Amino acid sequence: MAPSSDRMVPLLLTLLFLCLGGEAVDRSNFKTCEQSSFCKRQRELKPGQSPYRALLDTLELSDSRITLQLINDNNKVRLLLELYRLQGNMTRVKINELKPIKPRYEVPDVLITDPPTEPMTLVAQDENGVVLSLGVDEQRLIVNARPFRLDIVEGPKVLVSLNSRGLLAFEHLRLRKDTISHKITSTVGSMWDSIKSVFSSKHDSENGGGSENEEQGEDEDIQPVKEEDDKPGMWEETFKTHSDSKPSGPSSISLDFSLPGVDNVYGIPEHADTLKLKSTDGGEPYRLYNLDVFQYELNNLMALYGAVPVIISHNTERTMGLFWLNAAETWVDISSSSTGNTVLGKMMDLVQGSNEAPHTNIRWISESGIIDVFVMFGPRPNDVFAQYASLTGTQAFPPLSTLGYHQCRWNYNDQVDVKAVDEGFDEYDIPYDFIWLDIEHTDGKRYFTWDPNKFAQPKKMLQGLMDKRRNMVAIVDPHIKVDSGYKIHNDIRSKSFYVKNKDGGDYEGWCWPGSSGYPDFSNPEMRTWWASKFAYDQYEGSMENLYTWNDMNEPSVFNGPEVTMHKDATHGSWEHRDLHNIYGLYVQMATSEGLIKRSGGTERPFVLTRAFFAGSQRYGAVWTGDNAAEWGHLKVSIPMCLSLGLVGISFCGADVGGFFKHPGTELLVRWYQAGAYQPFFRAHAHLDTPRREPWLFGPDNTALIREAIRQRYTLLPYWYQLFYNAHRTGQPVMRALWIEFPEEPETFAIEDEYLLGRDLLVHPVTDEGAKGVTVYFPGKREVWYDVHTFQKHKGAQNLYIPVTMSSIPVFQRGGSIISRKDRVRRSSACMENDPYTLYVALNPQGTAEGEIYIDDFHTFNFEKEKQFIHRRLHFSDNTLSSSNLDPDSKFTTAAWIEKVIILGASRPTSISMKTADGTESDVEFEFDSATSVLTLRKPGVNAGADWTVLLK
Ligand code: GLC
Repeated sequence: MAPSSDRMVPLLLTLLFLCLGGEAVDRSNFKTCEQSSFCKRQRELKPGQSPYRALLDTLELSDSRITLQLINDNNKVRLLLELYRLQGNMTRVKINELKPIKPRYEVPDVLITDPPTEPMTLVAQDENGVVLSLGVDEQRLIVNARPFRLDIVEGPKVLVSLNSRGLLAFEHLRLRKDTISHKITSTVGSMWDSIKSVFSSKHDSENGGGSENEEQGEDEDIQPVKEEDDKPGMWEETFKTHSDSKPSGPSSISLDFSLPGVDNVYGIPEHADTLKLKSTDGGEPYRLYNLDVFQYELNNLMALYGAVPVIISHNTERTMGLFWLNAAETWVDISSSSTGNTVLGKMMDLVQGSNEAPHTNIRWISESGIIDVFVMFGPRPNDVFAQYASLTGTQAFPPLSTLGYHQCRWNYNDQVDVKAVDEGFDEYDIPYDFIWLDIEHTDGKRYFTWDPNKFAQPKKMLQGLMDKRRNMVAIVDPHIKVDSGYKIHNDIRSKSFYVKNKDGGDYEGWCWPGSSGYPDFSNPEMRTWWASKFAYDQYEGSMENLYTWNDMNEPSVFNGPEVTMHKDATHGSWEHRDLHNIYGLYVQMATSEGLIKRSGGTERPFVLTRAFFAGSQRYGAVWTGDNAAEWGHLKVSIPMCLSLGLVGISFCGADVGGFFKHPGTELLVRWYQAGAYQPFFRAHAHLDTPRREPWLFGPDNTALIREAIRQRYTLLPYWYQLFYNAHRTGQPVMRALWIEFPEEPETFAIEDEYLLGRDLLVHPVTDEGAKGVTVYFPGKREVWYDVHTFQKHKGAQNLYIPVTMSSIPVFQRGGSIISRKDRVRRSSACMENDPYTLYVALNPQGTAEGEIYIDDFHTFNFEKEKQFIHRRLHFSDNTLSSSNLDPDSKFTTAAWIEKVIILGASRPTSISMKTADGTESDVEFEFDSATSVLTLRKPGVNAGADWTVLLK
């Protein structure tokens, strides 16, 4: 993020950043829970004192929805609870004020549909509670009235309890006390009356009319019976030099969840920390608030650039998810313990006869909005992924080229530089698909423009790349230079598309261009206008092989509180506070729509974003921001991307080499080796670092880097198939081991190795001077083959695997078939029609299974017209066959199968190939008895055809 020289920004700003600088993050720039008044207030509440009671006589049950009022006995404010049973084994719980004095924000644009519901039935009711049947697997929902608590049970097991610790807390909207006291006589009073009548009638109609009873009379909804005393920070808050005017006063919400039997929870990215979430007892909660954190620290729960409020819980029996749909600043407390002496624990002991079972408590706290939570009941990891995908969509299926290698730095200086770097890849015989231009390519940080001297002929440059079947990404940030000579600014201003400050003027903050406006991406009209700016006739110098990078979209505001936007800035009728965490998603959404539109809806877009939210997977790729050239940053890239994959965002990567500082050659080589096996593979470097193109570190290191990148290219068919799968199912591309081995506790905390899909186990070398790595091979019944030596290792054991500088420890699961393209060329596009080699790794039963997926690699025709090839590859009884997985699909390919390599085989006497037309021919083969590897040469069948190979 921040510049370290005065090239970019005025002196004052530079000084600010020099102060921010140094070795690591300056924590004092970012709030702790204690410094965030709502978090502090909420955390002061003690468990076990819930003031909430369910008013059972207000229960209304329709087929698909239950409503019930809750009352806070301390202040008599009522809430409306809504419960929905959703198709696919989920339950949605919404809690809002019954009659808020004005609407509270409900996050739009994240859910892909209004989730379809299923009926619920009333099983029992008395004065203590209600029992409802959720229809499946004997699931029941139990509402306990006093204090209010919700338990969802399956048979004898409690799956989750809500408010069992009594930490439901809903700060109702209210008028400031001084305003209320003038209400009767002043004009404010009559204004207030009219506001009240508008909103209460709106709300009455939405909620089917709130039923009144003795606790809340006609007048009591105007002002609560007992208003709490104001606490510091409720109506105004200052942090450093920034004050937050809080026009709506306190509005935070909180709810606790207990998960009996669970001691592993994951998710809530983005944090530079472990995959398995930690207990926050006695420390800071996890924070979700999209922030541009300069030189972020490792092993820290501070907020980073993106936020996905989803927690996945797991034990050997079940995987579940909690999706807290709220886009305001959010803190999450987690504690794990054995059930012991809690109320829930005692209840469980009664039911389950044990007091030793672990359980996890989770508490969400958000600054505004409503409680809207989806409980996803799994029970298997893939069920949770499918459930979450049904709510928020799946990973956008990227063009194949974007799965290749990306060469970036801040900055490639000019067209001559771009050409030289491009030629360097040819000279050193290293494949790559994309070269990137950072902010310096623009005319004075005016996005959608080119520096007239350095990039005077962008089309010529792009055409040069296109001729080599390569592509470019140029940065388009969402802050717009305030400059009356800049058309984009003038248009946004005249259309009133900028975010407004609290006084109604256009919000201005400092960013790369100096004084900048921030388009209101939450406004659909603004997004449509923005998208139109990517049209070829609007974005001068752009061509089909130019794609987009959206950075600084938290949004980053150098002179704003915590380097972001003031919370009292406004987006139409909402405050920035309400929607902060979704701003970045909207930027990427609008941009990716722009790239789709410019091609008339034909081409798949590619947009990289730094900020993200739930649903961002639908719009492109994410990277982990400004890391550093340190071993710890290389290591943490694995759990960071694994966490993102768990919550739907598969297309993740970290800056290879590290953004800040200059890596030593060992670190750089190791980073390339690791990056080649992570979904988004891009090298990037800060402006002030020495140049880092792969050939600048001596011939030996160039060779090592070349080899790592080449390995990436040989595996592109597998990567592509995994992304197709992620797009269809929501399953992550890069997977924590426990996803595939959910019953193996040894895998639950592993974060230095992972699986690509089901079948490739990767354990990158991330330690300086390593002579070996200890690999855990999962699965009692599995065998794993080293992809380089074909050596076989048994599962369910740790093994020390010696490494040299050229080693990238990768293992293929016995029982799998992986397709590769072993002839590596200049770019992925050059390899499109190249032949495939099938790697068939046999399991102890002598069988194997895999897929191959092929389409045109860049358009939406796979979806719109079913133009693809999707085949099942299967080996059993000495027979390998290819059959169509989707009979309706239609696509032809020139690619053929040039080789089949069978690992763990025995020597056959002959091999024959049978094609669909019945012709049979002998296939040449070789058998290496030392390694048990059987190689079939030139089976010579088309990759899209039906065929069978018989080993005799
Ligand atoms: C931000 C980005 C970084 C980029 C720089 C200049 O720091 O995270 O990747 O190079 O801005 O645009």
